[in-house]
Amino acid sequence: MFSSGTLALSGMSLTVENGEFISLLGPSGCGKSTALRIIAGLGDTSSGRIDWPSSRINARGLPEGDISFVFQEPTLLPWKTVFDNVYLPLRLRRISRSAAKPAIMEALATVGLQDFANAYPRELSGGMKMRVSIARALVTKPKLLLMDEPFAALDEITRQKLNDDVLKLWKETGITVIFVTHSVFESAYLSNRIVVMKARPGRVHADFPLVTSHKRDGHYRTSEEYRQACEKVSNSLIEAMGGEEH
Ligand SMILES: Nc1ncnc2c1ncn2[C@@H]1O[C@H](COP(=O)(O)OP(=O)(O)OP(=O)(O)O)[C@@H](O)[C@H]1O
Ligand SMILES: [Mg+2]
Repeated sequence: MFSSGTLALSGMSLTVENGEFISLLGPSGCGKSTALRIIAGLGDTSSGRIDWPSSRINARGLPEGDISFVFQEPTLLPWKTVFDNVYLPLRLRRISRSAAKPAIMEALATVGLQDFANAYPRELSGGMKMRVSIARALVTKPKLLLMDEPFAALDEITRQKLNDDVLKLWKETGITVIFVTHSVFESAYLSNRIVVMKARPGRVHADFPLVTSHKRDGHYRTSEEYRQACEKVSNSLIEAMGGEEH
């Protein structure tokens, strides 16, 4: 509940298993960003609770350092190099620049930007900036990665490339991802579980697995199985929006 009186979420319940890739979809204003912020500990809830399995719980009841957030905008500091932008979360933990260097270079390598450590954000394309933002989220080695429409502002080809990068990262690290998107295609491509929300108040409308025997790659994008997955997600979203066709 916001101070304005808006009840953003009510009766929303979600159990997230280790290693899942969940896409969260729903009409605009249904509370997807609010839900992510609550999971990240960035917003206080007026009621409700979150249970963490981790024993590393801080005073605010959150497992410190285990969660990273990637926003729609890369939110980089323009006067700092790529290296120093990625260093920021470690700097906030009072880790020296030299001690942090291996972790920073590893995070940059994960997103293919190891050669751009000394570049400034203005020298990078939109897709590269987003990669820096992802590297900054990974540098603390989080267990849970929350992404709020991270690729919405990018062109389709760059977006597909970054989708593949995120999938690779997910497979290699075993990280748990909750990915907010408005794109049915993106959600069907990336996730092994789909959660569709309904608005006013925000709650879960549908929650189902997406299993595929395919490797998720260019061939999968043109497969019948992918088409069916897209249809399933799309139908669920139309239902959540009250049945109207778009
Ligand atoms: N800081 C705030 N103060 C008051 N109301 C807010 C605040 N943030 C969000 N809301 C309201 O809470 C509801 C959920 O908003 P939220 O941003 O979580 O939706 P969303 O699903 O992420 O939407 P979108 O798809 O447009 O990003 C909306 O009705 C919104 O107007
Ligand atoms: Mg949002």
